[in-house]
Amino acid sequence: MITVVGSINMDLVVQAKHFPKQGETTIGELFATVPGGKGANQAVAAARLGSEVRMVGAVGTDAFGNQLLKGLEAESVNVEAVLQKEGASGVANILLSEGDNRIIVVPGANFRMTPEEMNSFKLILSTSRIVMMQLEMPAPVVQRTLEICQALGVPTILNPAPSEGFRTEFLSLADVMTPNETEAEALFGKEWEKALVDYPNRLVVTLGKDGARFYDGKNHIHVKGLPAKAVDTTGAGDAFNGALCVALSEGMLFEEAVYFANAAASLAVEKFGAQGGMPDRKKVLERLKEYS
Ligand code: RIB
Repeated sequence: MITVVGSINMDLVVQAKHFPKQGETTIGELFATVPGGKGANQAVAAARLGSEVRMVGAVGTDAFGNQLLKGLEAESVNVEAVLQKEGASGVANILLSEGDNRIIVVPGANFRMTPEEMNSFKLILSTSRIVMMQLEMPAPVVQRTLEICQALGVPTILNPAPSEGFRTEFLSLADVMTPNETEAEALFGKEWEKALVDYPNRLVVTLGKDGARFYDGKNHIHVKGLPAKAVDTTGAGDAFNGALCVALSEGMLFEEAVYFANAAASLAVEKFGAQGGMPDRKKVLERLKEYS
């Protein structure tokens, strides 16, 4: 069983020809309300790849809360440990334009989770093959989860996004960390290539369409990204993380796991919506074969 401790948001997506300038109003082309949140996206990614997945997190008592719970259940993600907290659910305002996205998250119920609640989920954590986290939860919640997992000997993956919630304590608590280039520079305060050497087989820096890099203790390994016809890059990092989690939980070697994750991410960008393009295992294996 994979446990994802993380955010659950409703994504309010607007697509426009160009990003408006400061003070400008522009006419958009599309508006959609789709499920998102880095935690939920990673949980859905792992479930579609065939893993048993459980989500720990919170939604609000608003209409979005019920829709988000139903959406996760429809993806076969166990939501018994998702709390429903008084008030609004998390939302993400996503602007899609010029082949890229700009996102503002208003965390809502996600930020009303407490470290004490994580103590009550000890049994759930202890029965997990691996626990996956991001930073759209309060830092004390992430820290308590990592501490509990370390004490129990349960492996963890921390996707330190967004990096503003990062604490240096996480460096020694998380088993694997998966920042993108920008997050890595913010986390380590130096060129990320140099930081890789300090965390062999523990730090994977994702490079968008260029793939990912890590250091295996002897060599720098660049796992190249696979070609994709990108439609919407929202959630590509989540597809990578969900797939990496699945691969490592199944005992794949680190490099093989990163290949698998890259293939999942390349497929995820080919459809609209953070969760819309999360591929199943058959598609990932076909893509790996296509480019092997
Ligand atoms: O990683 C993409 C996700 O970031 C979106 O689904 C949005 O909810 C934000 O959390």
